[in-house]
Amino acid sequence: MFEQAITSTKIIKTGHLTAHDLDKLIFYCGGEQANPCLIIDNNPLLQRDIMLDELRKIRKVEIFDKVFPDPKVTDIMAMTDQLKGKAIHVVIGIGGGSSMDSAKGIAAVLSNGGDLDDYLGAGATRKIEKRDVKLILIPTTAGTGSEVTKVGVYTSRSGRKYTLGHPLMQADIAVLVTAYTQGLPPAITASTAFDALSHALETLWNKNASPLSDRIAVESAVRILKWMETAYDSSLSEALEGRAEMLEAACMAGTGFSMTGTAAVHALSFILSEEWHIPHGIACAFTLEDVFRLNLRNETTRQRLKLVAKALYGEGDTDDLIDTLLKKIITLKKKFGLPFTFKDLNIELRTDKIGELFNKSLDDPKMKNNIVEVNREIIFELIKNKI
Ligand SMILES: NC(=O)c1ccc[n+]([C@@H]2O[C@H](COP(=O)([O-])OP(=O)(O)OC[C@H]3O[C@@H](n4cnc5c(N)ncnc54)[C@H](O)[C@@H]3O)[C@@H](O)[C@H]2O)c1
Ligand SMILES: [Fe+2]
Repeated sequence: MFEQAITSTKIIKTGHLTAHDLDKLIFYCGGEQANPCLIIDNNPLLQRDIMLDELRKIRKVEIFDKVFPDPKVTDIMAMTDQLKGKAIHVVIGIGGGSSMDSAKGIAAVLSNGGDLDDYLGAGATRKIEKRDVKLILIPTTAGTGSEVTKVGVYTSRSGRKYTLGHPLMQADIAVLVTAYTQGLPPAITASTAFDALSHALETLWNKNASPLSDRIAVESAVRILKWMETAYDSSLSEALEGRAEMLEAACMAGTGFSMTGTAAVHALSFILSEEWHIPHGIACAFTLEDVFRLNLRNETTRQRLKLVAKALYGEGDTDDLIDTLLKKIITLKKKFGLPFTFKDLNIELRTDKIGELFNKSLDDPKMKNNIVEVNREIIFELIKNKI
């Protein structure tokens, strides 16, 4: 996979992961005496749970399962506090973005001290300066790409969702295990695939884009759009088709946005998750077609989107290609039952509340990455049209 050349994370792809495989990776990270700590959420995941039962028989492991979607600083600190005074050498996150980000947060605080809240937002009082533990991340969604990104996303004690980014947040090893996504239900398959698609597209309509990030983003957008429907159809019968491809494509999209940051879709999604606890992928899918249309005002973005459309729908240099691409995204959203309006989300929003709720997204660094400058009027129009 060519993105291995540009990420410091070693990426391993496998159909299955045995306890002996993971034990070997722990050994490579810290030797025979290495103490690993595992971070998971508390929902059962058959293949992972069988593997962990086996691992317990061959190595002493600390396992914490206090991870919930959109991980909270309080939960992460509760797990970190229980590790105080213990020599931990390897932190392993197995799960969706919430588990992997929790593992990243724990590794950061174990190494740099203090409280995770101290590292968040413009008023941060602490900086990440080192990492004393190795980090292994194993995604079970396809997905956030967190296994290769240098960011973690955390809900502070104040209830705001923050992105914490630093090269030292990046995993040493990412393992893409196809079997772990086999039982991913249709709704989570759909929402996490749209998160991955948003990562690829937000890398394209981004002020920090470069030829390298463009190339990765185009390639990952094409792969995601080629495979997400197959993976969704597989989810209806627990089949495997499309799963390995989506894991790889989401990982690749993570490599792309790790270079640029995300943009308007993500900045707006954080408000939806903070205010109404909308799951991340659904919150991203919600405004994707609107932000797509907004960014068509930028000619460079049109050219980049044409590259995606050409790879999917063949040659031709007309705007029809971009139209076909947008229509495909809308069709997939409809097929997957993803929301277009606040009514679809069962949220009653009054127009006089839009500014109060959504204008704070303008202070989010992600919004500043968006290639078309976003202002209060644009936000108002975009949100009003979804009521
Ligand atoms: N660090 C990053 O680069 C990055 C990027 C994008 C999003 N995020 C963050 O990641 C979080 C979202 O992560 P997510 O969308 O992967 O979901 P998640 O980790 O929040 O999990 C969502 C639900 O899916 C379930 N689940 C996960 N894998 C499963 C499987 N294989 N089978 C059945 N159920 C499964 C979980 O138990 C949970 O109930 C958000 O907090 C988001 O902000 C981080
Ligand atoms: Fe995301």
